[in-house]
Amino acid sequence: MCGIVGFTGRQNAAPILLDGLKKLEYRGYDSAGIAVMDDNGITVQKVKGRIANLCEKTKDGEAVPGFTGIGHTRWATHGAPTEENAHPHLSNDGRFAVVHNGIIENYSTLREELLADGYHFESETDTEVIVHLLEMYYNGSIREALIRTANRLSGSYALGVISSEEPGKIYAVREASPLILGVGIGENYFASDVTALVNHTRNVIYLEDGEFAELSESSIKIFDVLGQEVSKKPTRVLWDVQAAEKGGFEHFMLKEIMEQPGAVKATIAPRIRDGKVVFEELQGILPYLADIRKIIITACGSAYYAGCAGRYALERLTRIPVEVELASELRYSEPLIDDTTLVIVISQSGETADTIAALKECKTRGARTLAIVNVVGSTVAKLADYTIYTWAGPEIAVATTKGYTTQITVLYMLSVYFSDHLWRLTVPEETLTDMLMELPRRIQQAIDMNPTIPALAKKYHDHKALFFIGRNTDYATALEGALKMKEISYLHAEAYAAGELKHGTIALIEEHQPVIALCCNPSIMEKTLSNIVEVKSRGAEVLALTFRNNQKILSTADDLLFIPDVDALFSAVIEIVPLQLLAYYVAKENGCDIDKPKNLAKSVTVE
Ligand code: AGP
Repeated sequence: MCGIVGFTGRQNAAPILLDGLKKLEYRGYDSAGIAVMDDNGITVQKVKGRIANLCEKTKDGEAVPGFTGIGHTRWATHGAPTEENAHPHLSNDGRFAVVHNGIIENYSTLREELLADGYHFESETDTEVIVHLLEMYYNGSIREALIRTANRLSGSYALGVISSEEPGKIYAVREASPLILGVGIGENYFASDVTALVNHTRNVIYLEDGEFAELSESSIKIFDVLGQEVSKKPTRVLWDVQAAEKGGFEHFMLKEIMEQPGAVKATIAPRIRDGKVVFEELQGILPYLADIRKIIITACGSAYYAGCAGRYALERLTRIPVEVELASELRYSEPLIDDTTLVIVISQSGETADTIAALKECKTRGARTLAIVNVVGSTVAKLADYTIYTWAGPEIAVATTKGYTTQITVLYMLSVYFSDHLWRLTVPEETLTDMLMELPRRIQQAIDMNPTIPALAKKYHDHKALFFIGRNTDYATALEGALKMKEISYLHAEAYAAGELKHGTIALIEEHQPVIALCCNPSIMEKTLSNIVEVKSRGAEVLALTFRNNQKILSTADDLLFIPDVDALFSAVIEIVPLQLLAYYVAKENGCDIDKPKNLAKSVTVE
């Protein structure tokens, strides 16, 4: 996810663009840039790192004169966070500049075509194909060039464009990425969200998918995908800036929980083509895939629990033994690793000290290494032999949610991809990829099916301890559910393999002790039901997470959370969502600092 802004009017654009980018920095902050137009043409200034570096380089914009411009703050998805990969991107002839938020899924095909046509690329990004297509299609009308360019793109894009061919104008194009126009007096704007606009105007127009706009200081024209002009009335923004950064949500954590359908879709969609999982970044691993005798997944915290959840699909589909190890343990355990071992390292930040140390230890022992990371160009990504990025966008809340579910999603896709290339699939690949493509919708359903969670939180928020129990895939999810509860609500919570309770821990179950029972795996449902009866007979109050039609559980549990029907093979990314929301609302009841819990950091870069 990135932030884009545009301005045209009768005052210097650069300081306004920088101010807008500062308000969008939570959307992405690994590099930034502006392009400003004056009588001498387009000037582009870009930096690696934060907006502050761009302000310093441009003397807060004073060093870049011109009344028309566009700006971008980046969350890298294709190409490391470098100055060359920062936006805006300039056409070879210097007449067009583009900023982009989204993912161009067919960029590699377009890049090959443009290279063959003699266009020169400065960056590794997907975005740069757009500015060369504009140059190629321009024949006197920018509107026409934009329509022809947009017709070649597949994926998601919010674009900002300026051209020296049309001084004083900025163009905005929207497809599956938010883009809002700001209506001023003698000046006009666009931005990725209202955060960047409300200091200048509260009159905004929300572009719809397929629409594009031509803005000058005195006019805004909006067109549909066929180039027909459409009329749209401005609406008034009532949010304050702080609320707008969180998209109207009270906390970043709740916003990021709600972003999970989109984050999982962004992670899946570009990698499924014609019913098959495609990992272009893993071509080099295929020749020796058949030599892999063991897979070790290693990580910390929720990333470790993501490994625990994903290992079931990985083993079931690839038939390769999978071990999941805490990075802080693995690094000191003299692991039995050699070149027949594939080590999968999972990390949202890519900067966790124990995970980096474990990765180095495994490389030293000859393992081939594959990283699943959210931050492009991070240390883990650079150290691993292969890297698959989750495209969750920046995760601001310390407690991970979309980072966790997109990590598991990549493990699911990897399971199908490896199984296909090992000739071990027992069902048509398309059946599995259809199930994967369904996940974003199922996650949304899991959010919508549980309106009682705030009330349940009021009931459970002041117990001194909570138990989470489950078996197999349910147990893996219970581990993450307990961690979420602990780290943001400060209630003691423990996850137990349901079958283990009777071996000691059931001694702790007393009258009214809350037990959260995960019952989302039909093949072992009866066993978990007996565990529910066990704890209820000792006075526990059971909150069960299960399917709507599970009558036995429904008639046994005291309270219920639901998930939509989904195969247990891919259920972990759905099961966790009601538990994330339960932890969130319990923490809210307890008055905790949800986005910045005490004693925690977003990335644990120390051992
Ligand atoms: C998750 O909610 C926690 N904030 C923490 O356990 C985190 O998952 C762990 O520190 C690993 O971080 P990483 O994914 O950035 O490596």
